[in-house]
Amino acid sequence: MMQSPGEQVAICFYPPAYDIRVERIPIPRIEYPDDAIVKVKLAGLCGSDLHIYRGTEGIMEPCVCGHEFVGEVIALGSSFHPNASGRPSLYSTLQVGDKVISPFTVSCGECNFCHVGFTARCVESCLFGSPHTPGGQAQYVRVPKAGGTLYNLQEVSAVHEGTKPDVKEFIPGLADSSLLLLCDILPTGVFAAFQALNHPKVLPMMRSLPFPHSSACTAGESIYSAMPLLRPGAANLTIAIIGLGPVGVCTCIAAIDFLHANGSDFKIVAIDPVETRRNKVTAIYSKISCDQTRGFLEVADINESKRLVSEWTNGIGCNVVFEVVGNNSALMLAYELVRPFGCITSVGVHANSNVPFTGQKLYNKNVSLDFGRCPVRAMFPMALDLLLRRQDVFSEVGGEVSLIDKIVGFDVAGKTYEEFDRRECGKVLFDPWR
Ligand SMILES: NC(=O)c1ccc[n+]([C@@H]2O[C@H](COP(=O)([O-])OP(=O)(O)OC[C@H]3O[C@@H](n4cnc5c(N)ncnc54)[C@H](O)[C@@H]3O)[C@@H](O)[C@H]2O)c1
Ligand SMILES: [Zn+2]
Ligand SMILES: [Zn+2]
Repeated sequence: MMQSPGEQVAICFYPPAYDIRVERIPIPRIEYPDDAIVKVKLAGLCGSDLHIYRGTEGIMEPCVCGHEFVGEVIALGSSFHPNASGRPSLYSTLQVGDKVISPFTVSCGECNFCHVGFTARCVESCLFGSPHTPGGQAQYVRVPKAGGTLYNLQEVSAVHEGTKPDVKEFIPGLADSSLLLLCDILPTGVFAAFQALNHPKVLPMMRSLPFPHSSACTAGESIYSAMPLLRPGAANLTIAIIGLGPVGVCTCIAAIDFLHANGSDFKIVAIDPVETRRNKVTAIYSKISCDQTRGFLEVADINESKRLVSEWTNGIGCNVVFEVVGNNSALMLAYELVRPFGCITSVGVHANSNVPFTGQKLYNKNVSLDFGRCPVRAMFPMALDLLLRRQDVFSEVGGEVSLIDKIVGFDVAGKTYEEFDRRECGKVLFDPWR
């Protein structure tokens, strides 16, 4: 595609649905002092892009797609200078030429939500790839509140307490395709797993202690030491993971990683109607569990999953159900599969419809429901740690156990959206310069 100076190529969505066009549009410029302009090296295609593509997100204006990108800073607003004290550290340290990744939403780093780690609901939050905030499936992207939003990959270990000191040495060795997973899907999988496995209703099984002594915060004197441990069978966890797209796969890997580290006994049913997606999980599970003696995973389609859970639990249901699809049929299945006092952790993005169960149904099973967007910044150190330890799954492109299927150019953008929508491929990345 011929480009004039000042123009770039980007993947654009046109409402109402299924209309993807590769267009020449102006290269973004600094608009506000806190902005940065990033030259994109790779951009991800995500299940969340599909909600926009299918028209279920109700987007009424054309927009530049994409919310996962890794790239290099080419311009910085006037807020970036060595003496920018009292602000997130990137305002005084980020330089043109630095390699960065961006969480999929903007966060200021300065509001109460950002301070407590709930960065996904920053008061300045905007989603890349929406009409208000043009996305990363482009050659260049403008990043608002960039000092709070971006990660400078050269600095990442210094910024994040708790990250091992040697991490900094490894980051330059990671492929860009691997780093891109940190923008969204790997932290989201870790978020789902962390949230569910630390839930007060799941801690009895994780810690082998009865409720409520299983929880860290109980009023009065701790009686931990006096409590008898749960009988081994009572501490077994039964888990369902509904939806085995790229985010479902990350959720599986993160949950299994926590369970192995905890020494838990578990049975997981990993559910998807699409056979190729189930096969990917089977292959990944045999890779990541080969030296583990505890735990068990079986893949299933929807009907088979109901039969398996009933058989495994004498009809009681799962302790934890992950909903990683984003539609009401998946939520309904989650309700069917969960046991009394179980939790449903939903990270699927839901459109404007009611949840498919009544308050009475939730009451009658004492179900906990968790919904919502991943706070990528809060999960980043754990996600990076998992990324480094599981390079067997996250580093290669196109292998039997690779999470990423392929890297393609913008010339096949429309076809690639169609394929991903029909589940004919797994995670795909775009190289805007190919
Ligand atoms: N909460 C967050 O922060 C966050 C972050 C990233 C993605 N997401 C959301 O996570 C979801 C999954 O993303 P993805 O990239 O893996 O998408 P995807 O569309 O590739 O995967 C969804 C999978 O669910 C399967 N499926 C559909 N209906 C089902 C049903 N009733 N039961 C079982 N499986 C069913 C599909 O076959 C598909 O494999 C999407 O809704 C996406 O928007 C949320
Ligand atoms: Zn995404
Ligand atoms: Zn904020």
